[in-house]
Amino acid sequence: MALRIIEHPLVQHKLSIMRNKETSTMKFRELLQEISMLMGYEVTRDMPLTYEEIETPLMKMNAPKIAGKKVVIVPILRAGLGMVDGLMKLIPSARIGHIGLYRDEVTCQPQFYYYKMPANKERAVILTDPMLATGGSACDAIARLKADGFEHVRLMCLVASPQGVSAVEEQHPDVDIFLASLDEGLNEKNYILPGLGDAGDRIFGTK
Ligand code: PRP
Ligand code: URA
Repeated sequence: MALRIIEHPLVQHKLSIMRNKETSTMKFRELLQEISMLMGYEVTRDMPLTYEEIETPLMKMNAPKIAGKKVVIVPILRAGLGMVDGLMKLIPSARIGHIGLYRDEVTCQPQFYYYKMPANKERAVILTDPMLATGGSACDAIARLKADGFEHVRLMCLVASPQGVSAVEEQHPDVDIFLASLDEGLNEKNYILPGLGDAGDRIFGTK
């Protein structure tokens, strides 16, 4: 497994605005979309290229094009949805799967309610969720994808706790994790510290 923290100044600047409790729902959503696009640039960095002959107005050339597995973007509902549009701008032909999970408020265990993926299991999965807290939701989602036959999964989150990263590392050592920040830890309710609060509520304005 590889852990990649994207330290680009634009990503870090935008994340700081998102963390601020005074930031509005509209701005939060907009920034999440922008960061997702910037992170997507790194998440897709190792996509293999092939060469195809084309003709420019001046001459023929062997031009690089994306080869290899097609991509499916898979948000963990709800908050992962906020990362889809930014990625779609980079990979407009990507398919979109959905995994519905919410954390039980008392036990913090993921509760499953929805699963829909494209038929082609060869696709490379980019699993999105802004928050990797205990890691329970991400690990459950990855396990479901693998059980369904998807073998190539990478996880893209905004903010993670060390506990969440360790959980994914232990249960799914083949999955690469991309983050904008590895935060300090979790509070007694398993919220990430310093974090940014409840991502779903902040994206959808439900609090
Ligand atoms: C949040 C977040 C992750 C999960 C992270 O979702 O978007 O899916 O919690 O916590 P974990 O790593 O401890 O599992 P939430 O349960 O609040 O659902 P929502 O997105 O529908 O609001
Ligand atoms: N889910 C969130 O939305 N935020 C956290 O800090 C932890 C879980």
